Amino acid sequence: MEAVFADCPNYLEGVICNDGQEHFYLETQSALAVPEDTGGLTIYSSSQNPNEIQRMTATVLGLPQHQITVDIKRLGGGFGGKESQATVWACLAALAAFHTGRPAKLCLAREEDMLCTGKRHAFESNYRVAFDKKGKILAYSVELNSNCGAVADVSTSVLERAMLHAENSYQIENIRIIGRPCKTNLHPATAFRGFGGPQGIFAIESVLQRIAFTLGLDPYDVRVKNRYRQGDIAPYGEEIIHAEHMDKVFDKLRKDSLWDERRKNTITFNAENKYYKKGLSITPVKFGISFTAAHLNQGSALIHVYFDGSISVTHGAIEMGQEVNTKIGQIAATNFGVPLSYVRIESNNTKRVANTSPTAASSGCDLNGYAVEAASLEIMKRLRELVLKLFSEAEVVFENGFVYPVTADGATYENPLISFIELVKKAYYERINLSAHGFYATPGIHFDRDKGQGHPFLYYVFGAAVSEVTVDLLTGHTTLDYAHIIHDCGSSINPRVDVGQIQGGFAQGIGWVTTEELVYNEKGKLLSSSPATYKIPTIGDMPEEFHIELLEGSINEQGIKRSKAIGEPPFVYGESVFFAIVDALCSMGRYPEELSIPATPEKVWREIRRNIDNGRKE
Ligand code: MTE
Ligand code: MOS
Repeated sequence: MEAVFADCPNYLEGVICNDGQEHFYLETQSALAVPEDTGGLTIYSSSQNPNEIQRMTATVLGLPQHQITVDIKRLGGGFGGKESQATVWACLAALAAFHTGRPAKLCLAREEDMLCTGKRHAFESNYRVAFDKKGKILAYSVELNSNCGAVADVSTSVLERAMLHAENSYQIENIRIIGRPCKTNLHPATAFRGFGGPQGIFAIESVLQRIAFTLGLDPYDVRVKNRYRQGDIAPYGEEIIHAEHMDKVFDKLRKDSLWDERRKNTITFNAENKYYKKGLSITPVKFGISFTAAHLNQGSALIHVYFDGSISVTHGAIEMGQEVNTKIGQIAATNFGVPLSYVRIESNNTKRVANTSPTAASSGCDLNGYAVEAASLEIMKRLRELVLKLFSEAEVVFENGFVYPVTADGATYENPLISFIELVKKAYYERINLSAHGFYATPGIHFDRDKGQGHPFLYYVFGAAVSEVTVDLLTGHTTLDYAHIIHDCGSSINPRVDVGQIQGGFAQGIGWVTTEELVYNEKGKLLSSSPATYKIPTIGDMPEEFHIELLEGSINEQGIKRSKAIGEPPFVYGESVFFAIVDALCSMGRYPEELSIPATPEKVWREIRRNIDNGRKE
């Protein structure tokens, strides 16, 4: 590495900074604890992690875990903020209920919540990069320093994911990635959509943006030049399976977003306009799916089919707006061959599913969907045996709530043998078990922390976003004129849900990179602790023109029903808005090196002043 740095055609170094981010789930941290006559408690908590609520309240009260029942129906949003940080509030409610013998409920007011709870990790990253004249990176060295706050929480895992995403979508011959978790006097930082991934990606994307500017090259070309190709291996030794999807995304997005035409127009616009500058950007994403802590990659489910044919499904994931219940309901209904209305998704309850993993790392649907599949196939096996016994049909198909014989030329979907409901009734009288527990553990996952090598991810999600902005040079205000996203979600279980997750993730990303500013006093107290002083994006901040495409023809052999996880990766597309602002500022002739996330109007305006004053003190 040092040899490359010592003898390379081009070299840059610098510091890249991003602030944290408030989760701003609409439902604040809340818990209700109800005493039971056995001496235990039932706890209703707004948590992504019922298992941890059960374990920690049991520990605090000195009770065995079986005395604590945690029941969670749904959250008014979590975004990672309730993965570990819901626990303390549940423990407080549990203590009050346990010692008074009365139900106790604790809900934080918005300002309390913003003051006390952890945020996204702020990062300060130092880098050195060597590159050739076409913009190909020859060596990249980065130190990712994360601001963890006063206690460690999940900081080491977040930093690990940042490190495992430090190269984003690029093949880098010589790479050194150092991660340092830093203790500070702030509230403990925690999980937030992307879990360190967006921070690691932000560093390398900043570097590529600066390389393109330095060489006077098209930022799109520089990214394509460095991209992963089929068969390439990540720095930690895992093959980037389906890296060719990244190619497809790059090619299609260039055409569909009319990149080349837009870039020409932007340059013309900027030459003709004194008070407004346009900027254009491209941000690709490669995101690894699986918990990096291998043991968390497990899911479980419990299914009961009742006498009337209705189906009760409990699974280990938490519904928090990402529609995991819709997707898992679809998986169950498909496997039983019944309409979705036959299926009810129950609350997550530690008496029905135990030792679950938090709903996080975008893998709630993957892990628990597979567990639901296992349980439903188990019951279906028993039902199929009964069909064979009743009708001596070798092959049947379950569809739309009926059982059809399969004829030589395939299923006719006429003249059903029996309805699902009638079959279930017969099964009951035959004393066939109509309940099953399902379990899933992701195969082949391992990672050696000491060596930094292994196979931490089951598969990768790919995609890219193009954004175009106009910056008002008099105020620093940015308007997002256009955004175009192509996203690879495999064979989507529910395209509408996936598009919703892309829109939501992108919006949250825009907030992080442009308007959401955490301001602390010197004692570490948060000053921007209410919506009056902390600005999350609204509908008005969405792009004037907005396109989302799901990559066609993508099949994920590893995913449940050939799908890919969706929850977090689209968050990263928000970074394209930051780089569009950078591009607009670059048109004034200087790279805005000091601009950090969030690029608020004030910070953008200061960069504009720097460009205008050039050399004069602020
Ligand atoms: N979408 C909504 N509406 N609300 C949320 O709280 N959390 C995000 C993402 N999408 C979230 C969301 C985060 S941080 C994760 S990890 C995933 O959803 C978790 O759900 P999944 O594993 O089912 O995708
Ligand atoms: Mo999401 S940050 O993994 O809860």
